[in-house]
Amino acid sequence: MAAAVAVLAGAGVKAEAVAGAAQQTMRGVSNPRSARIDYMLKCQGCHRPDGGGDARTTPPMKHEVARFLAVPGGREFLARVPGVATVDLDDARLANLVNWTLYTFDPAHVPVDFRPYTAEEIGRLRRTPLRLERAETRARLVAGFAETGTSEQGPSQASFSQERTRLP
Ligand code: HEC
Repeated sequence: MAAAVAVLAGAGVKAEAVAGAAQQTMRGVSNPRSARIDYMLKCQGCHRPDGGGDARTTPPMKHEVARFLAVPGGREFLARVPGVATVDLDDARLANLVNWTLYTFDPAHVPVDFRPYTAEEIGRLRRTPLRLERAETRARLVAGFAETGTSEQGPSQASFSQERTRLP
């Protein structure tokens, strides 16, 4: 446990605050600890420990990722991006991780009536991972954020999309 806490502290995350929130509000997260470890091992290399991403390669999940839940097709998109769909975790563990990701990096945009992803839904969606069409799909969904009325479109999302379109 001490080692795990040290790793979490090193990752720049307030472990205590997250653990507290997890017990109260993270629906669909049966094991926050395993989610955190899976995130560190499988996701944070690109998405960074704080979910802030990288302006050139990886979009920010912080303050943004749950906004996809408010636009048509967004829920499916989150489970079909390659980083999620093709990771070597079983469906139940991946559902746990995706739900945790939403509550951890963007709790403010998780809808009050959010239905957590189940292993079954994740298993179905990940069978058809998005490939090259994903940049376009993502840009379309992000454009829809402005209409959801949750808040205005974040500048980081917009600049990321522009960068992406320049990639080969
Ligand atoms: C190799 C780098 C990489 C890894 C590893 C990775 N991702 Fe991603 N992720 C991306 C990129 C780039 C996007 C933008 C969509 C795309 O092009 O795939 C993305 C998009 C997403 C999205 C959709 C939100 C958005 O803003 O597009 C979610 C959710 C997500 N990733 C979660 C995860 C999780 C959870 C893991 C670990 C299981 C993970 N990712 C691993 C690079 C990565």
